[in-house]
Amino acid sequence: MAGLVVAMDGPSGSGKSSASRGVARALGLRYLDTGAMYRAITWWMLQQGVDLADPDAIAARAGEPELEIGTDPAAPTVAVGGVDVAGPIRSQEVTAAVSAVSAVPAVRERLVALQRELIGSGDIVVEGRDIGTVVAPGAPVKVYLTASAEARAHRRTAELAGAAAGAPAAAEVEAQQAAMARRDTLDSTRKAAPLAMAADAVELDTTALTLDEVIAEILRLIKERT
Ligand code: C5P
Repeated sequence: MAGLVVAMDGPSGSGKSSASRGVARALGLRYLDTGAMYRAITWWMLQQGVDLADPDAIAARAGEPELEIGTDPAAPTVAVGGVDVAGPIRSQEVTAAVSAVSAVPAVRERLVALQRELIGSGDIVVEGRDIGTVVAPGAPVKVYLTASAEARAHRRTAELAGAAAGAPAAAEVEAQQAAMARRDTLDSTRKAAPLAMAADAVELDTTALTLDEVIAEILRLIKERT
């Protein structure tokens, strides 16, 4: 299985991160979270006070932030200029702003080049929105994860509340669903590398599946295709 690249795409909350990390750990592969890279650049732009309503202002500074990404699936890391930003990049502020930054071609060009460098000779599971279509179109295994809008919002709300919290309130789930729908629309309708399923990807609807079932299905697919 030397050089294997597994491309994992799909909308927010489809279960990509947990499934990708689980698959990487099961097979001893590395793991690359490309969403964390777009989030890290967005965090930096916010810190710098860049006007995110101005794509030219974003493009002008896209080359500046120094990103460091760790690809261990047991403990993925992300830092900007030596500052660990794993926590801050998950803030509501970054989540609400990231689609505007990721739509700017200069940002994508820089990050896609960096992603290809990190993928190197392979042995890696890569998750994002354009991995099967743009970043690694030659990947032998491409999975497009989906789930119903309700299931995705429910999972994300529970995840943000933390493991100890009880069932999330219906109003919270609804607000989360609206925020996710907004982000998915921006991500799928942008001009540069929109969220899309590659023609040779396998679609996996995770709505009614447990995480273990999703991982088992992807492992089966990898076995079949390699
Ligand atoms: O996966 P995650 O929700 O962390 O991604 C955050 C955002 O980064 C997405 O909403 C999208 O705007 C952007 N993204 C992207 N291309 C990728 C991965 C993420 O545009 N390959």
